[in-house]
Amino acid sequence: MSVHKSEIKKITTHQLQEMKNRGEKIAMLTAYDYSMAKIIDGAGIDIILVGDSASNVMAGNETTLPITLDQMIYHGSSVVKAVNRALVVVDLPFGSYQGSSVEALRSAIRIMKEAGAHAVKLEGGSEVKDSVERILTAGIPVMGHLGLTPQSIYKFGTYSVRAKEEAEAKKLLEDAILLQECGCFALVLEKIPATLAKQVASALHIPVIGIGAGPDVDGQVLVMQDMLGINQDFKPRFLRRYADLHSAITNAVGQYVTDVKAKEFPNKDEMY
Ligand code: KIV
Repeated sequence: MSVHKSEIKKITTHQLQEMKNRGEKIAMLTAYDYSMAKIIDGAGIDIILVGDSASNVMAGNETTLPITLDQMIYHGSSVVKAVNRALVVVDLPFGSYQGSSVEALRSAIRIMKEAGAHAVKLEGGSEVKDSVERILTAGIPVMGHLGLTPQSIYKFGTYSVRAKEEAEAKKLLEDAILLQECGCFALVLEKIPATLAKQVASALHIPVIGIGAGPDVDGQVLVMQDMLGINQDFKPRFLRRYADLHSAITNAVGQYVTDVKAKEFPNKDEMY
């Protein structure tokens, strides 16, 4: 039996909260384009993050810093058009929200209006409190992001595990509580010790989604190109590869090249 678009129950921030309340884990992946978003939405993903990791995996930049608000809106609108069920969260890129809370709200409004996103995500704790609060006043749901925050890579100097020291762990917990009090509907914790992530997830009533943060959080997120084995260079310990699309694509393209050169494609059934 086919399911009509109108019969599909869309994921909302309220449903994500209910999932946490009943102990159901939340599955989140990144996507940046229409075709992939359509596949993962159909496969039952709960949240699609149009991450600023698009700067790395789509544009080939070394960091997330160069991607612009216009480019995030382009990726976001491509994803939104494909999605029937998942909640679509779009990252506010570096430089679009740190200047002032007014600028942050203006950027978030552009993402909601021009991409058709359902929520925005931004990095940081007390430093971005005013921006989070102002965005929320416009009725735009906000997801926080603490731990390894790649937009601050030049401050950290490395992509290694964050908050291993007591002082940083304490600040992270305080920031998590602050973001919840401001009204964030969920929080991403990236690359921090599993024990700290567990402590944060049990201290907060909002859903906490981990990447490299262990199993005792309310959901998991991965970058799609990494978990599908498209990107072979990135091999952190937390990454599980669910497919080897690099080999699958290489083999398929190699076979196509062979067939074209051997004049075996197209055959008599593949023409008009
Ligand atoms: O941009 C991104 O892909 C992210 C995830 C790693 C959480 O922020």
